[in-house]
Amino acid sequence: MKIIAGNWKMNGSRAALDDMIDAISRVATGDVRIALCVPYTMLRAGNAAVMIGAQNVSKFDGGAHTGNVSAAMVRATGAVATLVGHSETRDELHDKNADVSIRAARAIENDLLPIICVGETDTERDAGIGTDVVVRGVRESVPVCATDGGFIIAYEPRWAIGRGITPDMSDIENMHKIIRKTLDDMGFANTPILYGASVTAQNVHDIINIKNVDGVLVGGASLKKQDFIPIIENAK
Ligand code: PGA
Repeated sequence: MKIIAGNWKMNGSRAALDDMIDAISRVATGDVRIALCVPYTMLRAGNAAVMIGAQNVSKFDGGAHTGNVSAAMVRATGAVATLVGHSETRDELHDKNADVSIRAARAIENDLLPIICVGETDTERDAGIGTDVVVRGVRESVPVCATDGGFIIAYEPRWAIGRGITPDMSDIENMHKIIRKTLDDMGFANTPILYGASVTAQNVHDIINIKNVDGVLVGGASLKKQDFIPIIENAK
């Protein structure tokens, strides 16, 4: 089963989400699992076709942490998943792998499926340390409380996200092979690995059929039905 997750970032509305869930419910079949990660104000329960997720959770359980939203609060909306460690939150909140690991732990403790994002910057890639950064990202961002299949890894090359750039298919294949081996070594042989960055209706079929790619995480092209529904259809 392939997984297709949308990341709405700071976009959308409750009405647009209802409309998208309706549209997805009409086309989704049992062989794809769809998730939409939306801003906190739009969180709600999904349905049999669509899981709803947040885009981050606080490192804290509660208390004096202005501007934070806890994993328990997210779960109470009916949402069932959350991104953690997305490159934009790593940048804007200065999160390191250790911070991401704490956020993922809070998600797991509160019955949310964490989608743990890892990826290398262009500087790291040019310096030839891209794979080291990604392997360390996986090893250090997955919390000790994680169980096999109880979380998802999303590999997102940070130099490609939101820029319309897609890596060569062989680069995606190589990185996913390395991540697969890392997860296997950690005892997580059944944990899915998504690819994310510049996924479109045009490239999704090729990408999702690369070895060790269990699905995709889609940003810009998940916002509009005319872009996202063809992604779901072309992924089949
Ligand atoms: P993009 O974003 O598809 O717009 O490149 C992916 C992401 O940020 O998850």
